[in-house]
Amino acid sequence: MKIRAAVLEEFGKPLRVQELDLAEPRAGEVLVRLVACGVCHTDLYTASGADPSGYAPTVLGHEGAGVVERIGEGVTLLAPGDHVVTLFSPQCGECIHCRSPKTNLCLAIRDQQGKGYLPDGTTRLSRDGEPIRHFMGTSTFAEYTVMPEIALAKVNPEAPLEGAALFACGLSTGLGAAMNTARVEAGSTCVVFGAGMVGLGAVAGCRLQGAERIVCVDLSQDRLELAKGQGATDTMIGGEGTVERILEMTGGFGADYTFEATGNVKVMRQAVESARMGWGLATMAGVAGKGETLDIIPRFLITGRRVAGSSFGGVKGRDGVPRLIDRWLAGDIDVDPFISHRITLDDVNHGFELMEAQDGIRSVIGFGS
Ligand SMILES: NC(=O)c1ccc[n+]([C@@H]2O[C@H](COP(=O)([O-])OP(=O)(O)OC[C@H]3O[C@@H](n4cnc5c(N)ncnc54)[C@H](O)[C@@H]3O)[C@@H](O)[C@H]2O)c1
Ligand SMILES: [Zn+2]
Ligand SMILES: [Zn+2]
Repeated sequence: MKIRAAVLEEFGKPLRVQELDLAEPRAGEVLVRLVACGVCHTDLYTASGADPSGYAPTVLGHEGAGVVERIGEGVTLLAPGDHVVTLFSPQCGECIHCRSPKTNLCLAIRDQQGKGYLPDGTTRLSRDGEPIRHFMGTSTFAEYTVMPEIALAKVNPEAPLEGAALFACGLSTGLGAAMNTARVEAGSTCVVFGAGMVGLGAVAGCRLQGAERIVCVDLSQDRLELAKGQGATDTMIGGEGTVERILEMTGGFGADYTFEATGNVKVMRQAVESARMGWGLATMAGVAGKGETLDIIPRFLITGRRVAGSSFGGVKGRDGVPRLIDRWLAGDIDVDPFISHRITLDDVNHGFELMEAQDGIRSVIGFGS
């Protein structure tokens, strides 16, 4: 079939929206009609050429939500009409990692996905017979996409798909960092560095876990206001001296849980150093630049602090995303403030500009329902 999609032709150049061919879903694959898709830093990072594992041409986009249109042979997990959220982090349910409660890093399709192919090593996207690679296994800057059934979460059809799309990446990452990776205990003190989509999600996750005190640190006062709306009890402009101020606020000890959601390794260090002696847990969700390292003075570890990392918030997508969406529908999570701009696919490059200008939290592409 013919679809319209935003193609990364060349690194550092604007995406080009154009008509492509999309082949029918093969065994284990599903054709999804996209209804909404968020524009995320990871798309821009790849488009800029900064990601060493990036490739072109490819159709970007990974924060998608839509409706199952058709299913390939042997698909059992989904049926036409199901509402789905796309998962760049799939859940096969069978690999050694899927069978362990300790991780969400499914091993089933990693290699092919990383190279831009569907699990059978081919693409469904093409242009005049030339294959176009898939991005993050999702390629959701497009009217339709074909994805493996294990990489789609079936969600409550009552959830508006525009909001559901945010659970495909940053929001679940933040919520999950607090709820799954750190498993914040009720009554505890938390510090969240960064008030973008991920940090705000972490603030909401700490609140849902019953944290008593949630300090959010960012450089933008506007974003700190959003953090208050998600449950932050204290806010702070970051920079030098942040660790000292957190220690002062916590009787000299530091916080029970800290979260890093900026991608800056200096802030990661602050997150470690402002975690409490004895049992403080610092969870890293930010993605650092290539080759950057996190400096930790070993004494911080000997005296009881621990460091964890979190990919997609430790959320096993097919099980976890529907549960988070149910909590949204139950009124526990306020998603609307995150949707700052509604744009069309043709405006996708404008979505990147808004993100670079830190104008709002998320631009969401609507494909019309
Ligand atoms: N682990 C994962 O699976 C995963 C998933 C999505 C995104 N990420 C990463 O998470 C990070 C955050 O993503 P986002 O979409 O929320 O980004 P964002 O750019 O919207 O938010 C980052 C925030 O950090 C703030 N900040 C910058 N420097 C700071 C400092 N010194 N002190 C305090 N705050 C500071 C910025 O003002 C901004 O509000 C990125 O590194 C992103 O790549 C990770
Ligand atoms: Zn993303
Ligand atoms: Zn698996």
